[in-house]
Amino acid sequence: MSIEADPAESGPGTAGPVTSTAVRGDLTGEAAMASGSTTLRAVDLTLSFGPRAVLSNISLDVQQGVVTALLGPTGSGKTTLLRTFNRMNDKVTGYRHAGDVLLDGRSIWHPGVELMSLRRKVGMLFQRPNPFPMSIMDNVVAGVRAHRLASRNGLKAIARQRLTEVGLWDAVGDRLKDSPFRLSGGQQQLLCLARALAIEPQVLLLDEPTSSLDPVATESIEALIRTLVPRLTVVIVTHNLAQARRVSDRTVFLNQGRLVEHGDTQQVFENPAQEETAHYVGGRFG
Ligand SMILES: Nc1ncnc2c1ncn2[C@@H]1O[C@H](COP(=O)(O)OP(=O)(O)OP(=O)(O)O)[C@@H](O)[C@H]1O
Ligand SMILES: [Mg+2]
Repeated sequence: MSIEADPAESGPGTAGPVTSTAVRGDLTGEAAMASGSTTLRAVDLTLSFGPRAVLSNISLDVQQGVVTALLGPTGSGKTTLLRTFNRMNDKVTGYRHAGDVLLDGRSIWHPGVELMSLRRKVGMLFQRPNPFPMSIMDNVVAGVRAHRLASRNGLKAIARQRLTEVGLWDAVGDRLKDSPFRLSGGQQQLLCLARALAIEPQVLLLDEPTSSLDPVATESIEALIRTLVPRLTVVIVTHNLAQARRVSDRTVFLNQGRLVEHGDTQQVFENPAQEETAHYVGGRFG
């Protein structure tokens, strides 16, 4: 059974698998201490769909316990790179890769790595909200149930905790049995975030998570992201440069499938090493 919910494969309304995320041990102190070390590493990663290389020779160390923003023009390969981190491209027609991706030093394609277990460690929130066709409550705890991470009695407390964390409890606390599809788009996205957080991933991948949200919901998600580190490692794709500056510690700039620059966010924005980056962050990209 897969627990992953890829909207490209199973959009809202399909009887879907559960979100990806992870069980960690108690990393609070450990992660805080290890913050800055590498958790996820792409090593000379080249990825193609059919004859076309979409990512070329990407080498990237994602630091543990910080927020990394992935920037780049449309079509530069941001989503593809993010999806690779929890092996969501594996079944795409024509997909192949060279190079490697390591999680805690081990290849994510190692035969001993179970996909389900990888996706418990590396969770993902998609650009479009993808609630499952089940109640609000069941959505939040879907992953917890699938991975048998809590007793039946503990599920309600987990739902409440996660819905409160994402700022949705006041709006939905009295209608947990309702369908999520009556929620607004922004509320649906917050629900999906609650679901992703409920299994406590080690790494959380966010693909333009606020692009369908209003400024208030966007602000609350940004604030929430900051509270997740250093407990979690977050990689966020965004087209919103101001958001990248506000929310990230590290910034990666991709262009046409190449990694152009990776550095501290302030440095990348204020003193980029590459001309291409300067054009992009200066808003002068053609
Ligand atoms: N399943 C697929 N089959 C073939 N080509 C694909 C597939 N998925 C992505 N691509 C191609 O790979 C390239 C990178 O796409 P990707 O979605 O990663 O870009 P992106 O940087 O996320 O863009 P955007 O900012 O518009 O979301 C594009 O040229 C896209 O057409
Ligand atoms: Mg994309």
